[in-house]
Amino acid sequence: MSKKILVSGIKPTGRLHFGNYFGAMKQNIELANSGDYESFIFLADYHALTSVKNKEELHTQTLEAAASYIACGLDMSSTKLFKQSSVPEVTELTWIFNNCITMPYLMRAHAFKDSEAKNKDVNVGLFDYPVLMASDILMYDADVVPVGADQKQHIEYTRDIAGYYNRAFGVEQFKEPKELIVEGVAIIPGIDGQKMSKSYNNHIELFCSDEDLKKRVMSIVTDSATPSEKKNPDENNIYKIHKLFLNESEDVSLRAKFEDGGYSYKDAKEELLATIMKWREEKKEKYDELMKNPETLLTILKDGGAQARSRAEQTMKKVRTQVGLE
Ligand code: ADP
Ligand code: TRP
Repeated sequence: MSKKILVSGIKPTGRLHFGNYFGAMKQNIELANSGDYESFIFLADYHALTSVKNKEELHTQTLEAAASYIACGLDMSSTKLFKQSSVPEVTELTWIFNNCITMPYLMRAHAFKDSEAKNKDVNVGLFDYPVLMASDILMYDADVVPVGADQKQHIEYTRDIAGYYNRAFGVEQFKEPKELIVEGVAIIPGIDGQKMSKSYNNHIELFCSDEDLKKRVMSIVTDSATPSEKKNPDENNIYKIHKLFLNESEDVSLRAKFEDGGYSYKDAKEELLATIMKWREEKKEKYDELMKNPETLLTILKDGGAQARSRAEQTMKKVRTQVGLE
């Protein structure tokens, strides 16, 4: 029996942070490395174009995202890692899907509504974002799509779009994929306690300099409890971030330190810093090495892209026939 298919993408719109890692990358890597799936993981550079309008930035951020994935342990023998734009067929499929759905339907998308509410000028690419994402997923016949909780609606759109297409053309071409959201790590808080995000500038980058890492960790927002006071870990930002790195028994002892009192926020932050430094020690070395050798990275991406594209061509051959283009 052929393996189930896993598809996931990450938008190269800035350096990856621990919200990205614990919210999406970690699960992607674990699933892809399990050997249970045929995995397609891509850097969503077409999606990034909705906001990035600078070629060097897009290029560098795409390489950084690829290097981050590899440095964090993605097993390249079971995964196709590639640039979304290496498969231009996804834009063709997007165009076909665009004709199966209506504008009012897309106007209900959270991302579009949020941008509109902020009076942002919404470009057509951003408006069509969910359709391009549906094409990414349906193109490879995905069974599972590991994503952060914020992407749930996009997967719902993908299921809808699969159905609209199948009904419009009277075929059973696309099957409905499932999202996979790991409970407990759904929303990762940033250093100010809000959702960690580049846009709030409350994020901690995976591979920033040691100095920046220290600065970020030491500025995690806390209440004014004194060192001797007992503290509730579940309401504490340092704890919420620290626990992501811990196994069960380490978690129990960290909780006890907060609950027993006598654990200052300075100590708590220094211990968190040490945990992150240890977590990334080898990974950062690998990341820096990859970023020094962009040719190696480009070869990996090109290779993955060629394999993904040959799969996409098979899908598009059927689609073109079903809609009457061929
Ligand atoms: P940012 O908010 O920093 O711009 P993105 O929206 O580019 O981050 O995030 C890419 C993906 O990483 C999201 O779709 C989500 O899956 C995951 N992610 C990002 N931030 C978080 C977070 N704070 N908690 C959980 N998942 C997150
Ligand atoms: N929209 C996703 C994000 O911002 C990135 C993405 C693009 C994606 N295409 C995808 C994720 C397909 C999963 C599957 O994180």
